[in-house]
Amino acid sequence: MESKVIEHYNSENLTDRIRQAIIDAGKDPSDLQIKDLAGIDQLHTGGAKASLDLFDHVSFPEKAIIFDAGCGIGGSSRLLSKQLNCKFIGVDLADEFVNAANFLTRATHLEKQVKFQQGSVLDLPFDTDTFDGVLCQHILMNISDKALAIKEFYRILKPGGKLVLHEITKGESDNIQFPVPWAAQESISFLEPWDSLKDILLNQGFQCLIEKDKSQDAMTWWEKVNAFSKKKSQGVNPLNPGLIFGTNSKFFGKNMAANFRNQSICLIEAVYKKS
Ligand SMILES: C[S@@+](CC[C@H](N)C(=O)[O-])C[C@H]1O[C@@H](n2cnc3c(N)ncnc32)[C@H](O)[C@@H]1O
Repeated sequence: MESKVIEHYNSENLTDRIRQAIIDAGKDPSDLQIKDLAGIDQLHTGGAKASLDLFDHVSFPEKAIIFDAGCGIGGSSRLLSKQLNCKFIGVDLADEFVNAANFLTRATHLEKQVKFQQGSVLDLPFDTDTFDGVLCQHILMNISDKALAIKEFYRILKPGGKLVLHEITKGESDNIQFPVPWAAQESISFLEPWDSLKDILLNQGFQCLIEKDKSQDAMTWWEKVNAFSKKKSQGVNPLNPGLIFGTNSKFFGKNMAANFRNQSICLIEAVYKKS
């Protein structure tokens, strides 16, 4: 199953294509600001603001190290390492994503505090009790064995460490429209209702600190994405989601807004603590 997920996200020569798009956008690919990448490096609902908001009410010790599970091309790690002044280590299944993540991290001069490597969150190459935090942002939808992923997050967290979740969950209706960012069709989409996910977290030993249903905000955000993509017929920014997701990305705004509206999906933000 992991190979199908890799196939969904990997696209040929991604780093070279991103480098060219940066040049086409009139920027220097060896000297970028984080904000230059906002159109491509936040592969989740709500963009950069959602990542920043997630950590608004979570504190970490000085020199904290946070694990970014399924880091994509690393946008959240880069943004949050600056915001929180801490180190991030990210792992992703898709090697093209990991290469792009490391390239963009060098380009934004953050390679000392942010690093990425290829791997699966189901079998992490880190010692027990290593991290102060785990960021789990829009990844569990691609994982059928959620209990194993949660077990790994618990293992690598230090006692008292926090798991920050920003996840799409299954809603009351079964009427999900594809393609969506995590799946072109149902075979690699493993949505669970939040209640089931919560049971897994509590059974693992996590303690709930914060929990919010953000589905309404998420629907509004995707409606705006949809309206924006309909409007711009010319003058498209070369750094746009099509670079990462290909032509499927044209349908994301419409489908995601509809999926939230018809309650086939929900968006949950939560913080859990390892006891
Ligand atoms: C929708 S993207 C989100 C990326 C990133 N978290 C973000 O919000 O920008 C989901 C990511 O999870 C990764 N992924 C899925 N299953 C994984 C697994 N078992 N181990 C590591 N990464 C995984 C995918 O390769 C993809 O990059």
